[in-house]
Amino acid sequence: MTRICFVCLGNICRSPTAEGVMRKLAEDAGRDDLVIESAGTSGYHTGEPPDARSAEVAKRRGYPLGGRSQQFKRRDFARFDLVVAMDRKNQRDLLAMASSDEERAKVVLLRDYDPESPEGAEVPDPWYGEGGFDQVLDICIAGCRGLLASLG
Ligand code: 4NP
Repeated sequence: MTRICFVCLGNICRSPTAEGVMRKLAEDAGRDDLVIESAGTSGYHTGEPPDARSAEVAKRRGYPLGGRSQQFKRRDFARFDLVVAMDRKNQRDLLAMASSDEERAKVVLLRDYDPESPEGAEVPDPWYGEGGFDQVLDICIAGCRGLLASLG
C-alpha cells in the first residue's frame, strides 16, 4: 500500500479537493493499493465537512468530496508514505513538525507533480480569494494525475 495525506491550512477547501480527486483518479485507474486522506496544519475547522463551495464545484465535475477536517499531528508522519502540501507555507509547517530526515523526505508539493507547473508552484487558497474554486479543482486534477503516474 502507498499511504498519501494531502495537507492544506484548514482542511476544508484545497486538501479535501485533492483527496476527492485522487480517490476518483485511483478508482478509475483500478488502483486499490492507495490509502488517501487529508488534513490541515491548523485545527481551525476540526470536525467540519468540506467547504460547501469546494464540494459543489467538485461534485458538479464528478469528484465527490467527503470526510471531516482533521489536524495533522507529528504522529501522523508514521501513518503516511507521502505528505503532500498544497502551498509552501504548509510545506514549511510540515517540515518544522517532522522529527527525522525520513519524515522530512515524505513532504512534497502537489504542483511539483504537474509537468506544466513551474517548480515550487502553489495551490492558491480560495478561502482568502486567491483563486477560484474551479481553478483550484483544475490545479488539483493536474497535480493528482502527475502524482498517480509517479507512483508507477
Ligand atoms: P484550505 O482553506 O486551507 O484550503 O482549507 C482555508 C480554510 C479556512 C481557513 C484558511 C484556509 N481559515 O483561516 O479559517
